[in-house]
Amino acid sequence: MTDLSSLITITNFIGLITTIIILSYFYLKKCYQYWEDRKVPYVKPTSLLFGSNLDLVLQRTSFQEYHADLYKQLAPHRFGGYYNFQRPFLLVRDPEIVKHILVVDFAKFSVRHTDADGSEPLRMHLFNLKGDTWKLLKEKISPAFSPAKIKAMVELMKECAIELVDVLKKPSEDQRDIFITDIISRYGTDVIGTCAFGYQAHSLLQPDAIFRTMARRIIEPHFNFKLRSLLLAISPKLCRIFKVRMFDPEATQYFIDLVDETIKYRESNNIVRNDFIDLLIAVKREEHLANQKDKNRSRKMDVSVENLAAQCFAFFFAGYSTQNLTLGAALLELARNPDVQRKLRQEIDDTFAANNGEINYDILNKMKYMEQVVSEVIRCYPGQPIILRQCGENYKIPDSDTVIEKGVTVFVPRYGLNHDPEYYPDPDTFDPEHFSDEAKAARHPYAHLLFGEGPRKCLGTSHRISQSYRSNWFLHTFRTKIWSNAFQTRVDHAPEELRVYLIS
Ligand code: HEM
Repeated sequence: MTDLSSLITITNFIGLITTIIILSYFYLKKCYQYWEDRKVPYVKPTSLLFGSNLDLVLQRTSFQEYHADLYKQLAPHRFGGYYNFQRPFLLVRDPEIVKHILVVDFAKFSVRHTDADGSEPLRMHLFNLKGDTWKLLKEKISPAFSPAKIKAMVELMKECAIELVDVLKKPSEDQRDIFITDIISRYGTDVIGTCAFGYQAHSLLQPDAIFRTMARRIIEPHFNFKLRSLLLAISPKLCRIFKVRMFDPEATQYFIDLVDETIKYRESNNIVRNDFIDLLIAVKREEHLANQKDKNRSRKMDVSVENLAAQCFAFFFAGYSTQNLTLGAALLELARNPDVQRKLRQEIDDTFAANNGEINYDILNKMKYMEQVVSEVIRCYPGQPIILRQCGENYKIPDSDTVIEKGVTVFVPRYGLNHDPEYYPDPDTFDPEHFSDEAKAARHPYAHLLFGEGPRKCLGTSHRISQSYRSNWFLHTFRTKIWSNAFQTRVDHAPEELRVYLIS
């Protein structure tokens, strides 16, 4: 009798598992019918579990190569679908549709595909927010990026630039080869420390400075971080239920405390430094005054210290890796292309000479070739190869019968467009002439999305000036040469092991 009942139990169990497998199979099959049913050209899923992402999950391709390949596979269509795991994503190839999504019909695509829900304070910054919270925050913090404010920040960066040159000059004559990527990242940390947190981190002088150590625990991708990012991409809902966090809690608290102490110190000592913290103090004051007048007003900004710290942290999130990548890649390309380096050095030397060795925001803005070189570096090494938007309501694609349904994620292939031979002759060659006035005039303006476009365009566009600033000091003082082959040549990575040989 016991044997019979355990047999029945085992049979039931096997039956249950078989039913689950069969139902899951049909469910997944149905998910992958989405684009077929809507007669939209699409990239076929290569795996039942991972959709079109199998190679990416198995790390057989890089994020950038993968997206470049999707762009190519969907040629010559103006748009097409693919499956991010089971979710249907739409890739837009036609710059005219890109313009509609990012600018003309922005109201229907105002949300980036992000999942910040308040459970992690440092993720509640402009990049991740949506709706009215994003709009109000953008209004409040955009003044920090006005030309006048950036001018003041360039002055703050000067101190870091002087330390940078000192550090570069240090090696003795027979040790002129330098592990430059490390120095760039320390320099970037110091710039963000001083401009965003009002804190002189001095990590150029002390590589183990506490500010840098904590920053690295958050921003440098380690195994746990990658795993959590993957889980978040697969199922944000499950991550919310199981409270999966991306950031290290101790480091998170360090940055919140730092902002708290800095604000309190400045308020009680009436210190003004013309940096981002000053702006946040002003916003906080404004909010308190407005609350005193009308407690129940509808448009309120959260000025808790956690939220203010998140806005400072946005500099790290959005600016750190992009700027480090740009500078590292610029040095690499300048070493590989001596003619470009010569021409740029000439412009820098002439500019320094014409301005008595001084350099500031206005002077930088006039350096045309520098602008071309920085733009070309970003085209070749964009960091994030795509721009994401979520469709907020059903939307008919202009000049087509296809409707993008509410909730579908649309992606704009920054890398794909920037490497399409239709817009960039010889797209795999590093050539600043891709950004000459004539070349830009001949191209569709939405085929060079270096910083995105429309209301959600990069807020740090003018911060790019700091990029030129760093390169300026660097190149004015040194000439770079590739020292060895000890760097990665895969186009999507910062040259992690880049060493340069310095000639003063
Ligand atoms: C070479 C440097 C940089 C590049 C190539 C770059 C590129 C981008 C891109 C492509 C976007 C997405 C735009 C979109 O979705 O339409 C973006 C957004 C953003 N970037 Fe940058 N960025 C750079 C530096 C910075 C810096 C230094 C900051 C510092 C504050 C910054 C702050 C932001 C913010 C806050 C957003 C989100 C804006 C919003 O959603 O309203 N970026 N950036």
